[in-house]
Amino acid sequence: MQYTEKVMDHFMHPRNVGEIADASGVGEVGNAKCGDIMKIYIKVDENEVITDVKFQTFGCGAAIATSSRATEMVIGKTIDEALKITNEMVTQSLGGLPPVKLHCSVLAEEALHAAIADYKNKRAAGKENG
Ligand code: FES
Repeated sequence: MQYTEKVMDHFMHPRNVGEIADASGVGEVGNAKCGDIMKIYIKVDENEVITDVKFQTFGCGAAIATSSRATEMVIGKTIDEALKITNEMVTQSLGGLPPVKLHCSVLAEEALHAAIADYKNKRAAGKENG
């Protein structure tokens, strides 16, 4: 099983690891195949642009690398643009993953979608409360 240089780079030097204390949305998901966990925090401005993303994972190297790359790809995008970024796009931008590790790349996509859903819920609740 071989990892590309880009995957190794993101695994060894993951970008945007951590948490955002006053996040606009938080998403946490588990991978049914392996039990690993991913948590993603997003900060969204008034124009619905994602200005910051941080992630924490209890997951394998492939999950770390794809999450690291995914955070780079969504910062600066609107939430609608971010929702169009798939785990396949993230994986391809890293030069691919061994087939048995492809399920790991789904964690970041699912956690990001959960964080965006959380942001939308919070915003809707905020409007209701005036
Ligand atoms: Fe669990 Fe990769 S083995 S995310």
